[in-house]
Amino acid sequence: MSEQEDKLWGGRFSEPTDAFVEAFTASIGFDQRLYRHDIEGSKAHAQMLNKVGVLTDEECQSILDGLAQVEYEIESGKLEWSISLEDIHMNIEARLTDLIGDTGKKLHTGRSRNDQIATDIRLYLREEIDFIIEEIQRLQEGLLGLAEREASTILPGFTHLQVAQPITFGHHMLAWFEMLQRDAERLADCRRRVNIMPLGAAALAGTTYPIDRNYTAKLLGFERPSRNSLDSVSDRDFAIEFNAAASLIMMHLSRFSEELVIWTSAQFNFINLPDRFCTGSSIMPQKKNPDVPELVRGKAGRVFGHLISLLTLMKSQPLAYNKDNQEDKEPLFDTIDTLKGSLRAFADMVPAIEVKADFMRQAALQGFSTATDLADYLVRKGIPFRDAHEIVGKAVALGVETGRDLSEMDLEELTAFSDRIEADIFEVLTLEGSVAARDHLGGTAPGQVLAQVEAARKGLKNSQ
Ligand code: ARG
Repeated sequence: MSEQEDKLWGGRFSEPTDAFVEAFTASIGFDQRLYRHDIEGSKAHAQMLNKVGVLTDEECQSILDGLAQVEYEIESGKLEWSISLEDIHMNIEARLTDLIGDTGKKLHTGRSRNDQIATDIRLYLREEIDFIIEEIQRLQEGLLGLAEREASTILPGFTHLQVAQPITFGHHMLAWFEMLQRDAERLADCRRRVNIMPLGAAALAGTTYPIDRNYTAKLLGFERPSRNSLDSVSDRDFAIEFNAAASLIMMHLSRFSEELVIWTSAQFNFINLPDRFCTGSSIMPQKKNPDVPELVRGKAGRVFGHLISLLTLMKSQPLAYNKDNQEDKEPLFDTIDTLKGSLRAFADMVPAIEVKADFMRQAALQGFSTATDLADYLVRKGIPFRDAHEIVGKAVALGVETGRDLSEMDLEELTAFSDRIEADIFEVLTLEGSVAARDHLGGTAPGQVLAQVEAARKGLKNSQ
């Protein structure tokens, strides 16, 4: 026996691995997360080998039982990971062979760690995507609840963070809903390309055994086996795609976060976040900080960073598998953890948002938010839009000068700007009149919001 007897690949080596190199090259510290998927893949592989006559019924059964025992040992914390066994695949295989003897050594027939790891990551990511889509939908349901409750609550809508036009709070919630809808669709689309089975590609060129890849794919719930063995072991596009979709979700959450932070400030005072989602200051007794949205806003950065890591990892890699690919796991895992944590925090927090309708209304009354309504009114009375724009601009200038909103001017003052203005103008200048008038598909009118909520609920139900 060589000094490398504990290494599953020790045959051709004449000296032990340098201790530092062993630790440096090992991935067991992080790829142990994949143990369930690794075992699932191994069980399917063994069953396929049995089906095509490479393993006998007894051998296959012994491997399946042994793998179940290994899984039990991992889950009950009994199995000790070994760095000298490098990664999750060899830790599990070595323990299997301890348990069932030489039959355990037959499991690796017709496969390589290269197709094995590619399969494990896909099984793992597929499961995580399903969970993440559910979390997105839970958050979406929360938004729909808020949108329904506050369908006619008015706040100022902003452009350039300057008061623009009155909108309904429900409408604002539905904007967030739409962003998440695209996110869920992107993940579902990404999942289609995750759900392809690389197993059978072996190291890079395929294998000499009469394997039945369709059978293994079916056992593992994959859509189909991959078509090219070189591509199968080297492709990590699916992980990059996922990280790109995750980046968009985090970008969206950072935008929600920013608005929540602004809205909870004393200057805006539009909403209250319940105490359980906030923390205090160790020095300023009065402080209540919106930590959850702030943290989510900050966490977006690490997910974007992981996207760049993965792209850079793959850039210029020659076919087929290279050890570089071991570096795909930590960014991917951290992206998943960060995304799941952020979505959970939001899905828990959003239904608990308390709306301060009076303050929002007060804010909407400032900043001449119904000026466009006056211009539209003049257009309806036959004045070309550009001229109407000019007329209203002058009225606003008077308002700025005298510190009054358009609705606070009397009819005489207003008719001085245009003789088309009549007493019915005051209805047009109210906040309620303004939002109610935007009564078309995609508009902010309360009735439109309620209709969208209903349609969105149906859509969510159908996709669950
Ligand atoms: N730990 C490796 C990884 O994460 C598994 C595949 C290793 N293959 C190899 N030939 N060294 O990618």
